[in-house]
Amino acid sequence: MDGRDLVRSVKVVGSAGAAQGLRTVRAAWRRRRADAAGLPPRGAERARVPGPVQHVEPGPGGGVLRFSRTLLRITVTVNGAVFWGWDGAEAEPSYALAGRCPDPDPRAVLEPDKDGGWRVVAERVTVVVSRHGAVEVRTPGGVTLRRDLPPRWWEPVEGGPARWMQRSEVAADARFFGLGGRASGPRLRDGTYRLWNTDPGRAFGPDDDPLYITMPVQMVVADAATHLVFHDTSWDGTVTLREGEEGAGSGHDRAGTCEVRMEGGPLRCWVMVGTPARVLLTWASLTGAPALPPAWALGHHHARWGFGSEQEVRRIVAGYLERGLPLDAVHLDIDHYDGHQVFTVDHDRFPKLPQLAEELRRDGVRLVSIVDPAVKAAPGNAVYDSGRAVDAFVRDASGRLVEGVVWPGEAVFPDFTHARVREWWGGLYEERLAQGFAGFWHDMNEPTSFTAFGESTLPRSARHSLEGRGGDHREAHNVYALCMARAGYEGLRELAPLERPFVFSRSGWAGLQRYGGTWSGDVATGWPGLRASLSLVMGLGLCGVPYSGPDVGGFDGSPSAELYLRWFQLGAYLPLFRTHASLRAGRREPWEFGLDVLEHARVALLERRRLLPYFLTLAHLARRTGAPYVRPLWWGAPEDRALRDCEDAFLLGDCLLVAPVLDPGADRRAVQLPRGRWYNTATERVHEGPGQVLVDAPLSRIPVLARAGAVMPVRGEDGGLELEVWAPPRGRTGGGLVVPDAGDGWDEPEVERYVARWEGRQVVVEREGEGGVSEPPYPVRLRGLGRA
Ligand code: GLC
Repeated sequence: MDGRDLVRSVKVVGSAGAAQGLRTVRAAWRRRRADAAGLPPRGAERARVPGPVQHVEPGPGGGVLRFSRTLLRITVTVNGAVFWGWDGAEAEPSYALAGRCPDPDPRAVLEPDKDGGWRVVAERVTVVVSRHGAVEVRTPGGVTLRRDLPPRWWEPVEGGPARWMQRSEVAADARFFGLGGRASGPRLRDGTYRLWNTDPGRAFGPDDDPLYITMPVQMVVADAATHLVFHDTSWDGTVTLREGEEGAGSGHDRAGTCEVRMEGGPLRCWVMVGTPARVLLTWASLTGAPALPPAWALGHHHARWGFGSEQEVRRIVAGYLERGLPLDAVHLDIDHYDGHQVFTVDHDRFPKLPQLAEELRRDGVRLVSIVDPAVKAAPGNAVYDSGRAVDAFVRDASGRLVEGVVWPGEAVFPDFTHARVREWWGGLYEERLAQGFAGFWHDMNEPTSFTAFGESTLPRSARHSLEGRGGDHREAHNVYALCMARAGYEGLRELAPLERPFVFSRSGWAGLQRYGGTWSGDVATGWPGLRASLSLVMGLGLCGVPYSGPDVGGFDGSPSAELYLRWFQLGAYLPLFRTHASLRAGRREPWEFGLDVLEHARVALLERRRLLPYFLTLAHLARRTGAPYVRPLWWGAPEDRALRDCEDAFLLGDCLLVAPVLDPGADRRAVQLPRGRWYNTATERVHEGPGQVLVDAPLSRIPVLARAGAVMPVRGEDGGLELEVWAPPRGRTGGGLVVPDAGDGWDEPEVERYVARWEGRQVVVEREGEGGVSEPPYPVRLRGLGRA
């Protein structure tokens, strides 16, 4: 929600709303005035292209090519990625990188190619640069994956940042994914996608773009290989994609195209090539391993804007407990704050929060707090005063504090691109920990400032530290939430060093996974919203952010019982499983939709609880390998084109295929299967892939299939760990990985490996270790045996 809603609501809420409405109009006007003064018009521009190559200096990992009007640095790094930067751009500094840029791979060096061009040959990729600065990425076998035409810059004659454009071609069969969280995907259709983190200002559907998390990360999947390309620039820009087409009969192929346009910032990019798993491993090695959520964060969360009081929170929690419905966390929204001011408590309605937190914890329920960046601009407000004392807030070019309007009214914004500010902000979580909160939900951090019209964020001319380099909001905007996540995460590590922080954030950028996850934001209640919420989770996973999930039931309005149930059933298989809704929306508790829905929701909740050890294993594997929990069906078979185009089902780790119901009235659905044997987990019926099958999808459940041979950790009846094993096809072996729960601290337990194989008429499950095989230390439950 933003100013547009707010202005609309002026009529409803009377004079208080009218005052707020006036403030938003004033804020918009202030913003425009600041930009007019702080950002002079660009004036005349001069276009530039590289020109012919003149001189080449081979060096470790590649080298430097000097063109008549620019230079290009290419480096293959030891993690197998390729970096190139134009105009002298280097890999650092970068908000995306987890640490220093990886070392160059000394085996790769620029060498002459045909026609006056040059090339670098590395283990997994060959990069060829033409005489005029076209850059081609090829597989080791010589197949072209991507061809960048020579870039083009437009420089203001009077000086200032150059805009640039990079056109590329990809294979005719290639499909595009990624670009952050996109509601219309996961396959990105032809169109222009903006790179500017945006609060859409209302509950969004598949046609709303951009949303809260954009990033210049594309995953391109083609027959020859998968590659990820990352244009490491945080400025505003667009990516225009056009899928190619293969010529029918003797006709020619039409290549797919991609055009990246940026309003400024360095022209530099990273490319990694291989299988999807290899590509994400390399991406995680570059931008950081995903933070491991505490085990409870993999359970069920219930949120609501407008719980209103401690009694109401108790009532909801009791509702879950009395009905035997698992619940692991309750989220408190802005209404528990005093005057909506972050890091405060409304003591009238929440008089004993620490006690409530303690009580809930005894029942296994954690409290999670919303945290918004905007600070009420009022002397006497402790957060404002302490922020002023460390000069924490964003200023304009003339040195005045930049004011916007957010929930607390007129507000100022911490400049999280400054280390000192991050440290100050991180320290503020001490108050939250003292209130008993165990997790943190960062919101409104695009950042959003309500305006009556136009863009609802800070003026572009607003100044930011950018780690001391200095710059303005045009460069800082997209990394604002990333830096806020860092501040929260690092603060919590200091304040509670024995526990893994739980942070998830509405907005973010490449690298967000280092600090936590995200959720799908204010998704519109409706069947299209349900589909959009799955698109976001899959797309973000392919950009390296594996932990996310939607507001089950949608953010606004009142879902029908069927829609609520189908959303709930999908949510139960996504990393963040959370019911949440707006102040004005209908109820979202599972018992509010009739007895049938309650019973089916109970099944979903119990199944989620049973799968917790599997989710925890997936979280550990994401941390170690970058592989998202939720993967597109083509994850293990990117060359299967039918899978590439399939967007309505997903793999949950290696073992399960989940086929949610995304349409009303459906009681069966088609499922596109990857190669191999699959069991319907409800009926144990066998299906052979690849191919499409029809499966039943009664209201009581969504189809979930298990891969034959899968060994997966689940929670047994007694709460202990068990291995659920799906019989491999006769004569074949299967297997699986288990990472046991080692508490919510920092222990990183070893990955246990299991194999399942036939011995005579029996399936035997063994643990594989360095010293050979041994019996599993857990009970084993074999399934699908009768069908194998
Ligand atoms: C934003 C958030 C939503 C939250 C609301 C009030 O709309 O996206 O989740 O409930 O603000 O804080």
